[in-house]
Amino acid sequence: MKRTNIFKNLGLGIIAVMIATGAYAAGPESLKNTTMEKFDIHVFPALPYAYDALEPYIDARTMEIHYDKHHRAYFNNFVAAIKDTPLDNSTIDKIFAKVSEAGDAVRNNGGGFYNHVFFWNNLSPKPGAPSAELSAAINKTFGSFDKFKELFGNAAKTRFGSGWAWLYVTSDNKLAVGSTANQDNPLMDVSPVKGTPLLALDVWEHAYYLKYQNRRPEYVEAFWSVVNWAEVSKRFKEAVK
Ligand SMILES: [Fe+2]
Repeated sequence: MKRTNIFKNLGLGIIAVMIATGAYAAGPESLKNTTMEKFDIHVFPALPYAYDALEPYIDARTMEIHYDKHHRAYFNNFVAAIKDTPLDNSTIDKIFAKVSEAGDAVRNNGGGFYNHVFFWNNLSPKPGAPSAELSAAINKTFGSFDKFKELFGNAAKTRFGSGWAWLYVTSDNKLAVGSTANQDNPLMDVSPVKGTPLLALDVWEHAYYLKYQNRRPEYVEAFWSVVNWAEVSKRFKEAVK
């Protein structure tokens, strides 16, 4: 075999191994970041980090399946549900404000689409810390940061079945924690907790089962190590201005 062919075959072999192991040369880390500011209901956004970026707290395989299978399915089903309806020219907040009139396909898949974009963006391999303003509001509302974590964690752990835990700002600019079932969120007219969401935690089993199995409390505890506090602080600033 010629020397050039040896290197060529070696290169193809390495690529094959990378594909087989999921170590892609051009994985999601190469895709552009996305923010919540201009939420486009027709775009399935890239993950803002690699699948393995949140290891060991959230494993790469879970991230890949969660993003590329579950999240993508919600997006595809939502786009199909609003196609050829007036909602196709609307915005996500307007759709959620009257989601009770839109039907279950829009409610479940629109929520699943939006909530996951929101969730990916409030996670980070570099968690940082809440801003001084957000810290002060947390301390004032909940007594301490640890008490807030306890209340938020309890909301996540006690949500029966599938759903989400939220930190959100109420209509009178107060912080609150709560949870929603299935893919509902605080922007929806059907939600028991209403306001502007700041921080979300997905407590569907698909979010943690591969690594944590039935140990949801361990997953909730690990979540605190990967919260993107800069993003949450930015959301807070915009919500109360
Ligand atoms: Fe999920």
